[in-house]
Amino acid sequence: MKEIMNDLYMEGQLDVEIAPVLQRMQNRIMKQTTYHGVITHKQPLDFWVYQEMIYELKPDVIIEIGNCRGGSTLALAHQQDLMDHGRIIAIDIDHSLLHEKARAHPRIEWIEDCAVAGFDKVKKKIKKTDTVLVIEDSAHTYKHTLKCLRLYSELIKVGGYMIIEDGIGRHGLRFGESPGPFEATTQFLTENKNFVADRDKESFFITWNPQGYLKRIS
Ligand SMILES: C[S@@+](CC[C@H](N)C(=O)[O-])C[C@H]1O[C@@H](n2cnc3c(N)ncnc32)[C@H](O)[C@@H]1O
Repeated sequence: MKEIMNDLYMEGQLDVEIAPVLQRMQNRIMKQTTYHGVITHKQPLDFWVYQEMIYELKPDVIIEIGNCRGGSTLALAHQQDLMDHGRIIAIDIDHSLLHEKARAHPRIEWIEDCAVAGFDKVKKKIKKTDTVLVIEDSAHTYKHTLKCLRLYSELIKVGGYMIIEDGIGRHGLRFGESPGPFEATTQFLTENKNFVADRDKESFFITWNPQGYLKRIS
C-alpha cells in the first residue's frame, strides 16, 4: 500500500490508496479540529451533511449523546440559531471538560449521566409533538451503541433520523472494538424494521458514519 508522504501536498500524491488518507484525516480530527475555538472531534464532511439535514428537517430537539468539550454541541446550537428554531439536549457521562462558551449557550440543556441509565431524564424533556434528531457519539462499544439505538429510536417520528457515529472503527480505521457501532447498527436494523440506513447521506463517499444515518420509515 502506498503511504502518504507528510511533506507532500495532495496534488503531488494522487495515486495513494484511501486507507492512509482516512488515517491522515483522523489525525487532524483528533488533534487539531476546533469549532469557534472549542475542541471537537467531528469529521467535517459529516458535519456538512448534518447541516443539510438540520436545515431540511428543522428538528424541534437535537439530542447529542457524547459532548466532550462541547465543540460539536455548540456547532449544532449555532445551526439552530441561524434558523431561530430548536433546542438541544446534550447528555454525557462527564461534563467536566466542557468549554465555557458551549456551557453558556442558551439553547443547550446539559445532562451529566450515562446515556443509557439517564434515558428517562432525556425522555421527560421531550414533548409528544417534538420532532427529534439524535446524534450518538459516546462510548462506541457494541453493547452501549445497541442499547442507545433501542432506547432513543423510540423518540424519532417517521421521516426523522438517528445518526450513529464512528462506524468507521474497524471499517476503514484501526480503532475501537470489533464488533462496534457498525455491527450494532446492523443488529438494530435486523430487529427494527421501522428504520433503514439512508446511504444517500454518505454521498461524499468519505464518512465516519458508514451505515450510520438511520431513517425512520414507518
Ligand atoms: C468522542 S467524545 C464526543 C465528542 C463530541 N461529540 C465532538 O464531536 O466533539 C465521546 C464522549 O462520550 C462520553 N461517554 C462515554 N461513555 C458514555 C456513556 N455511557 N454515556 C454518555 N456519554 C458517554 C465521553 O465522556 C466523551 O465525552
